[in-house]
Amino acid sequence: MNVADDKIVVKEYFNNTGFDRWRRIYGDGEVNKVQLDIRQGHQQTVDTVLSWLNADDNLAGLTICDAGCGVGSLSIPLAQAGAKINASDISQKMVTEAKERAEAVLGNSHNLTFSVQDLETLSGKYHTVICLDVLIHYPQEKAAEMISHLGSMAESRLIVSFAPKTCALTLLKKIGSFFPGPSKATRAYLHRESEIVKILESNGFSVQRQAMTRTRFYFSRLLEATRS
Ligand SMILES: C[S@@+](CC[C@H](N)C(=O)[O-])C[C@H]1O[C@@H](n2cnc3c(N)ncnc32)[C@H](O)[C@@H]1O
Repeated sequence: MNVADDKIVVKEYFNNTGFDRWRRIYGDGEVNKVQLDIRQGHQQTVDTVLSWLNADDNLAGLTICDAGCGVGSLSIPLAQAGAKINASDISQKMVTEAKERAEAVLGNSHNLTFSVQDLETLSGKYHTVICLDVLIHYPQEKAAEMISHLGSMAESRLIVSFAPKTCALTLLKKIGSFFPGPSKATRAYLHRESEIVKILESNGFSVQRQAMTRTRFYFSRLLEATRS
């Protein structure tokens, strides 16, 4: 499958079976054990980002781009903390769900705007650009392009997460659980941390904080990089 095909498949997936699956995982209703494990793992990643940004004590008014925002799991608490968020996702369904969740929590007037957009078509400048758990859908060469584009919009900081290649065997064994049934059509790509760091550095960033979330079925390496 080539890179363009990956994007078409990912968009289709997150507007159909993937939407139903991930909306449940990123919610608080009843789910199966595997989905619960992934929900808890993902929440840890979100909580780590929130703890880093809260520790800096400058969230109010900070401009943040959340690229591939899903149902708004990160954007909504960041907007609650006073940051100005531009949240976008390739999936119309994900964005509609995120908007509904934002309205339920924040009401109609808030500092959070949404758009349906492939992250490569995003533009503008933000203090911080964040892209969580999106790179798993793209191969290395595409990840390099994406990070480079996201970096060009980040005035100060870029935060990305990815499934690290070091966990390859474990993850590959579990991939059937990530994408059961028809959604197996969506490939999961692992990335070597050294490669991601190299891409960040070649775009003028250096890694400041890092974390790893590892549960039974969820693996995510999180890097915060700032302009060197
Ligand atoms: C696993 S979810 C993570 C969602 C969110 N970042 C979070 O951590 O809660 C991956 C999301 O990336 C979106 N996505 C995948 N490829 C994308 C692309 N090229 N541009 C924008 N969004 C994309 C999907 O539609 C999906 O909502």
